[in-house]
Amino acid sequence: MITKIKRRINTYRSIKHKGFKLPITRTNQGLNDNENYLNSSKEQIDHLVSLNLINKTSNILDFGSGQGRLVNGLKFADIKIKEYTGVDTDLNSIKWCKRFLSSYGKNFKFIHLPAFNARYNKSADGLQEIPVDNDKFDLVFLNSVFSHMMSNDVAFYLKEFNRILSKNGAVYLTAFTEENVPNVEENPINYLNETNKNGSLHRVRFEVNYFNDMIKKAGLKTELYLHQHIERSKQSVYVLRKSIPPLK
Ligand SMILES: C[S@@+](CC[C@H](N)C(=O)[O-])C[C@H]1O[C@@H](n2cnc3c(N)ncnc32)[C@H](O)[C@@H]1O
Repeated sequence: MITKIKRRINTYRSIKHKGFKLPITRTNQGLNDNENYLNSSKEQIDHLVSLNLINKTSNILDFGSGQGRLVNGLKFADIKIKEYTGVDTDLNSIKWCKRFLSSYGKNFKFIHLPAFNARYNKSADGLQEIPVDNDKFDLVFLNSVFSHMMSNDVAFYLKEFNRILSKNGAVYLTAFTEENVPNVEENPINYLNETNKNGSLHRVRFEVNYFNDMIKKAGLKTELYLHQHIERSKQSVYVLRKSIPPLK
């Protein structure tokens, strides 16, 4: 209860670091240090730039945007884009972004999508389509979001990404994926020091071939796979492209 009240109060507060407004309560594990917080985002943006996945004409969807870590990183790295849309099921995070990050420009929008998630939004009702037009985005970015979802949700959102991605667009996502493990496991004990005390959907791990199968079934194909590429979280990185329209 106290944590809930604190979180609500913290939607009205921010902390300044190097001129950037950062959240006080963070949904990212292990990113409490302000410098690490900004650098974690800059590192991913540098990666996106090196892969030619963003430039000044990009229209980006940040799915499970949390408290706009990517937005602060774009400003910190001084990378210009055309339009940014952040979508999250956590209302407090979206309120925080609207309050503290809207001043970054009219091309930065934040949408609350009340979708059920046993960790982040238990009061919502099931899966929700992303409220945006078809073929709209050059990049769908999601960091540490599929790490908190079971297969049903992942399969649903992969199809949604295919629907909203432009013809030459790409998905850049992170997930826990390993070989020779059960297809899907919630909070696997002893995996990356997991205990059984971290709550629902703390760490969802997928078997690589099983995950690839979900990608294919959504009409997407893997262009790049980097196992445990994110050093701090040990999540793998995938870059996906459209292969065929999603199967109905
Ligand atoms: C670990 S946080 C990562 C936040 C952000 N991507 C980052 O890297 O800072 C996971 C985020 O995914 C969001 N999320 C989980 N399920 C979702 C869903 N079905 N739709 C939208 N957002 C979701 C959570 O509310 C949370 O903000």
